[in-house]
Amino acid sequence: MLIRPWQTGDEHLVEAAQRNLSPRSIDRRFLAGSGGRLPAFYLRHLAAGPRPEWDAQVAVAGGELCGWAEYGRRPAASPAADLAVLVADPWQRTGLATALIRALVHRMIAAGVRTIQADVSGANQASNGLIRALAGPDQSPSYEDGLLRYTFDLSLVPPVPAPIPAKAFG
Ligand SMILES: CC(C)(COP(=O)(O)OP(=O)(O)OC[C@H]1O[C@@H](n2cnc3c(N)ncnc32)[C@H](O)[C@@H]1OP(=O)(O)O)[C@@H](O)C(=O)NCCC(=O)NCCS
Repeated sequence: MLIRPWQTGDEHLVEAAQRNLSPRSIDRRFLAGSGGRLPAFYLRHLAAGPRPEWDAQVAVAGGELCGWAEYGRRPAASPAADLAVLVADPWQRTGLATALIRALVHRMIAAGVRTIQADVSGANQASNGLIRALAGPDQSPSYEDGLLRYTFDLSLVPPVPAPIPAKAFG
C-alpha cells in the first residue's frame, strides 16, 4: 500500500475506483443521494489538481486507488479547512483513513492550515468514530443545518503516518 500526495492524473484512478465504492459510502461522503456515482461536479473539481484551496493524499495498491483524504478551504490562505475522506469498501476498517489523514496533516500545517472542520451526519458512526479516534474522545460537535460540525485544532492529530495494520494487506 503506497500512501502519497495527490498527483495530476489521479482523477482517472478515482473514476476507476468507483467499482469499489458502494452507494452507501458515496452517499455518506457527499451527504446526499448519489445514485451510486461520484458527482460530476466533484470529478471536475478533482481534475483541477492540487492548488492552494485544495489538496489530497491518496492510497494506492496494485494500481488501484483504495482511498483518499482531502482538504479544501476558501479563501486559499484560510487557516481553517474542511477535511473529507473516502475509503473504498474493501479497505474500510483497516486503519486506512487514519493513515491517510495523519500523512496529510504535516502538509496541511506547511500550507498554513491550523483548524480542521468536518460536517458529518449523526447517523454516520464510522466518521464520528474516526474523528474521535483522531482528535480525542472529548470532541463535542455543534449542530449546524441538521449535521454535526466538528471543529478542532490540527495539532490534536499526531502528524506522523500511522503504521498500516497487517490486516490492511490481506
Ligand atoms: C468513515 C471512513 C472514512 C472510515 O475509514 P476507515 O479507513 O474505515 O477508518 P479507520 O480504519 O482508520 O478507523 C479508525 C477509527 O474510526 C472508527 N471507525 C471506523 N469505522 C467505523 C465503523 N464502521 N463504526 C464505528 N467506528 C468506526 C473506529 O474508532 C476506528 O478505530 P478502530 O478500527 O481501531 O476501532 C469510511 O468508513 C468511509 O469512507 N466511509 C464513507 C465515506 C464517509 O463517511 N466519509 C466521512 C465523511 S467525509
